[in-house]
Amino acid sequence: MRSVLNFNQDWLYLPEDAAAKRPDSDFEAITLPHTNIVLPYHNFDNAEYQFISTYRKHFRLPEPRTDRRVYVDFDGAMIACTVSLNGHVLGDHEGGFTPFSFDLTDYLNEDGDNLLTVRLDSTERPDIPPYGGVVDYLTFGGIYRDVHLRYVEPVHIADVFVRPKTVLTTPGLEIDVTLRNQADTPQLIDIWAALEHCQSARYQAKLDVDYGPVTIPASEETRITIIIDSGTLLNLDSWSPNINHDVSELADASLRLWSLDTPNLYGVTIEVFKDRQRNDPASNLGKHSDSVYTRFGFREAQFRDDGFYLNGEKIKLIGLNHHQTYPSIGAAAPKRLQEKDADIIKYELGCNIVRTSHYPQSPHFLRRCDEIGLLVFEEIPGWQFIGDEDWQGISLRDVEAMITRDRNHPSIVLWGVRINESLDNTAFYTRTNALAHQLDPTRQTGGVRFWQHSEFLEDVYTFNDFSNDVQEPVQTPHMVTEFNGHMFPTKSFDQEERMVEHALRHARIQDKQMGMERVSGAIGWCAFDYNTHKEFGSGDRICYHGVMDIFRLPKYAGYFYESQIDPSHHVVLRAATLYARGERSVGGIDPLVIFSNCDEIEVYQGTAFKGKFTPDREQFPNLPHAPFVITGIEMKWGSHDYVDMRLVGFIDGKQVAEQLFDHRSLPARLELRADDDTLHADGADMTRLVFRITDRYGNRLPFTDQVVSFEIDGPAQLIGANPFALIGGQAALYIKAGHKPGTVTVRAVTPRLDPASVTLTIQ
Ligand code: GAL
Repeated sequence: MRSVLNFNQDWLYLPEDAAAKRPDSDFEAITLPHTNIVLPYHNFDNAEYQFISTYRKHFRLPEPRTDRRVYVDFDGAMIACTVSLNGHVLGDHEGGFTPFSFDLTDYLNEDGDNLLTVRLDSTERPDIPPYGGVVDYLTFGGIYRDVHLRYVEPVHIADVFVRPKTVLTTPGLEIDVTLRNQADTPQLIDIWAALEHCQSARYQAKLDVDYGPVTIPASEETRITIIIDSGTLLNLDSWSPNINHDVSELADASLRLWSLDTPNLYGVTIEVFKDRQRNDPASNLGKHSDSVYTRFGFREAQFRDDGFYLNGEKIKLIGLNHHQTYPSIGAAAPKRLQEKDADIIKYELGCNIVRTSHYPQSPHFLRRCDEIGLLVFEEIPGWQFIGDEDWQGISLRDVEAMITRDRNHPSIVLWGVRINESLDNTAFYTRTNALAHQLDPTRQTGGVRFWQHSEFLEDVYTFNDFSNDVQEPVQTPHMVTEFNGHMFPTKSFDQEERMVEHALRHARIQDKQMGMERVSGAIGWCAFDYNTHKEFGSGDRICYHGVMDIFRLPKYAGYFYESQIDPSHHVVLRAATLYARGERSVGGIDPLVIFSNCDEIEVYQGTAFKGKFTPDREQFPNLPHAPFVITGIEMKWGSHDYVDMRLVGFIDGKQVAEQLFDHRSLPARLELRADDDTLHADGADMTRLVFRITDRYGNRLPFTDQVVSFEIDGPAQLIGANPFALIGGQAALYIKAGHKPGTVTVRAVTPRLDPASVTLTIQ
């Protein structure tokens, strides 16, 4: 049988191209995911991560091999590597964003010690996408994603592709199973498939399908397609109870669509059996030789000339672009941080779509998008530049690796098969499109360009519109895939007017596109500030293009996106002001812009009632929740009758939210908050530790750049600068679990305020 074991533990690392001679004692003990260098959050050069390093792992086989083949599976290593086992080179891999595997079997020492070595080249190799030209993002080095050890029988499942069909009318399933036979004789096998609803124990029921026998020729791959028609799928009698079977529940559960609000997931288990006794109907299925579980969802996603449809319903897409990089740790973020990014984009920024600009991102991120109902536009690595034939060959491999890895994710609705913003190239893009359609006939392709009238070889015209407006589509289906970005970089400590204008630019574009019949949606540039090359950014190697900062903490533009969330999820009331007299040009806070999903807001200064206001539907007729733009709130320059401001939000006449502003705006509190209270003792798990200095009402004081010092006790470490000077009144570190369980306490101190502390459990 198959076993898949986590292989992240007990690696050795040396930031050098180590000849075999270097002793282990020169290496550092590390756990994956790993960044080849921990860097400050800004003010560093990309040259600092560009070097060749060596990873070693000594291991004994954790399970006896018996007759199985043993593979090592890498989810991603930046950017090219050579992998060896016990001194034998197994092969090379080029490309930092897609998975790769090596068969270890022939060189394994089954009863003794083994040494796996990875020589990792993290230089920006011009022969490998995205490089060759300039690139506005960084590709931090390291084996930065997970690694697994996989045992499989010589006859095993190489791939499963589950394709729900016509889910809205006569739902059915086609399941392509690719079977590999590594034995040197043909093999006769039987296949069994079971379908289950994965989210709730109440609905666990199984649909069993028996398929076979199939003969797989020696040393070959065979693909079979299991078809489950709607008669079987929707017929309750075909399902067999698992637990708590109740027919009425099952009737309701037999097919539930995956949608944004109810992201129902199903699972298919494919099992392979050998040596079935065919002439004996009472015999069992034979020798169980493989089992693979694949999660998927029933949904129909289509970009049409008049917009995007999910399950037959037109949905306006509102989204942001996402880079996979983080402060200090580069791209080496473990599962928890990957999932957190998806959660932030859905729940703190109210988006229904994210673009994985400009490369395939972590499997953990994508799985989370499936679980929470966040649509994804995923694209191949690149940035404006197209290289020679060999380079294009790697890019085609990227198309293949991306689609084969990810085509079971219901969240993914579009494949990006052009190098972001590259020029037309008929031959190359005809091939990427054909390959994508061949590998996945169920999804449309897009290809991101920055000018209208480029050659349209894809299914969806995905367009970066930096006109500060939304241009009328020339080609349809049409989606805006970037806007704003470098047109208006904004820091979380910029002047209030700029912060407000930054937010309003996002609001105006999203409002306008929502009113345009033939625009499917708009994905803004971008979710989070990110590190970049010297050719871009603000000089400190950050592009301040995010609606949140690099620590994923919101600017006012983040409040705009958050305010589009349905209030049944959470009520948002956030004024885009510091309530200071002299921060804006000429002074005052006129107009007072408030991002909120309330339908009315009352404004008080002290006890004086200043009015009850409604959203600005004139300027923003199309947004679900138009910003409030309030004029006439007086704040006279220098006058001393200065009192606190109070905003009160109402929905359906009921008071639901309040925000208070301190007229003295003095630092009152050091806040310290960890995103999680429990981490796994695996040496890699991490959570974010946010710290802020606020006024007495909890409002961030963005010009407070005080230094905060930290102490940590217990089996964990802090990652990031310590002490840390606040950025815009806030910042974050990461807490990284060690290998021992226990209690961790972090204390933070800063002059003139009470210290703060948080406690976590490592288990
Ligand atoms: C686009 C590009 C993005 C980013 C953005 C900044 O042209 O596709 O990667 O550089 O500009 O606005």
